[in-house]
Amino acid sequence: MTSPVEQSSYSSQTLTRKELFLRACRSEPVPRVPVWIMRQAGRYLPEYREIRKKHAFLDVCKTPELAQEVSLQPYRRLGVDAVIVFSDILILAEAMGVHLELNDAGPHLPEPVRTAQHIEALRMFDPEQETGFLMEAIRGLRRTLGSEVPVLGFAAAPWTLACYLIEGGTREGFATVKAFAHEQPRAFRSLLEKIARVTARYLKAQIAAGAAAVQLFDTWCGELTANEYAEIALPATQQLLGELDASPAPVILYTKGSNHLMDSVAKAGADVLSVDWRVDLAALRAKLGPDVALQGNVDPAILLGPAAGIRGAVRGAIGKTNGAGHILNLGHGILPTTPVENAQLFIETGQKTPLAPHVPAAPGT
Ligand code: CP3
Repeated sequence: MTSPVEQSSYSSQTLTRKELFLRACRSEPVPRVPVWIMRQAGRYLPEYREIRKKHAFLDVCKTPELAQEVSLQPYRRLGVDAVIVFSDILILAEAMGVHLELNDAGPHLPEPVRTAQHIEALRMFDPEQETGFLMEAIRGLRRTLGSEVPVLGFAAAPWTLACYLIEGGTREGFATVKAFAHEQPRAFRSLLEKIARVTARYLKAQIAAGAAAVQLFDTWCGELTANEYAEIALPATQQLLGELDASPAPVILYTKGSNHLMDSVAKAGADVLSVDWRVDLAALRAKLGPDVALQGNVDPAILLGPAAGIRGAVRGAIGKTNGAGHILNLGHGILPTTPVENAQLFIETGQKTPLAPHVPAAPGT
């Protein structure tokens, strides 16, 4: 399949999209930054809405042909540099035995986890058995895309999954999960450890099925203070990433609203840190050094327009890193009201922005 964006700056290079993406993850020199968009398969695309007219969201996730088709839509339309498999972070909650509904109002777990007994009862499921549709979708994407384009797998970070399991949905303030963590610290820790173990298994299965890299979404870690993050959320994320250490696939850790947490987030052990628009990429790079790659971090609202703002934001983000160890992305998921041509402009500008020549370190320095 040829993408509409075979840009000249890229075709002169011999790197495939997958090589480019993996080089950026490892902070190796690249001719341009790789670019993709969080939630790139979704409602801003008319072809996605067409499929959703006929199929419920969870049916799309659980039917490998549909999940593959929807995953490929942004690649065909925008020429993104990575294809994330279509699924949801809450598919894992369901596989652990928690009833899940996903409707227009967002996710709803009618029987949220509130007791130590319920935590005990959560299932350490077998990913190939219980979520075989996801592995099949990844294998199908690999068959279609060959080895030229990286397929990305994903899961929630333990804290963010625990937020949904305990709150039962997205809740302002997350008071119930915080109260649970403070009132029943041992039970809460056992929940996070259980999630970490089962998620490591789930991500390993995605990598075995063909995911070139995986992303952990810690969308709600910004709700915590720096101390709470370090004491409550970080150990489980470290445990999870430690279990993936031997795996060949780089791990991207997305944290939202995490500017105050970056010292701890950097200790999680991820290869790439993905941050939102409130983080200054140059300052973060100066703090972490050149070996940790960064992903992000344009504000999704910028993609609502105008074009000059989109070009400026893309060049601004790349200018902060000069494209070294940088995967261009948004700071959070693309908004459903985004005009498709603006998403196109975001990708194209990112792929065409020239980088200053890489200057190798002189021997002995
Ligand atoms: O990035 C991709 O294109 C892959 C697909 C993907 C979805 N959800 C599809 C989806 C990914 C990576 C996710 C992750 C996810 N899901 C997160 C973490 C990232 C983030 O945005 O913070 C979270 C918190 C969820 C939970 C979730 N799923 C919520 C809160 C909602 C409702 C809000 C919304 O956007 O509608 C969903 C539903 C959902 N997940 C949709 C999509 C495309 C919309 C469902 C529809 O088609 O109606």
